[in-house]
Amino acid sequence: MNWSKSIRQLHRWLSIIFTLTVVANFATMAFGTPPAWVVYSPLPPLFLLLLSGLYMFALPYFTGRREQVSAAG
Ligand code: HEM
Repeated sequence: MNWSKSIRQLHRWLSIIFTLTVVANFATMAFGTPPAWVVYSPLPPLFLLLLSGLYMFALPYFTGRREQVSAAG
């Protein structure tokens, strides 16, 4: 299994979980102040998104050029 592919897949699914926690915040706000655990629930997935996102950002600079298919050469 390709490691960087797994990280990208993880980032995708984390983005869905993160989105759901943000939606949950707005939904519970309709009924007054949300409980603290709902307010802070986006932070763990956001933190993991940050790590996996930074990993994906840095990836092209650390892997060899040979792995890339680039029109610019
Ligand atoms: C927190 C800091 C974040 C960083 C540093 C980051 C960084 C990145 C990077 C570098 C990519 C790859 C872009 C490429 O194809 O070259 C990416 C893809 C993506 N990001 Fe993020 N991201 C972050 C947060 C988020 C959040 C909050 C969401 C959505 C809720 C999100 C959703 C996505 C999705 C859906 C992709 C495409 C994944 C795929 O190609 O399968 N990211 N991100």
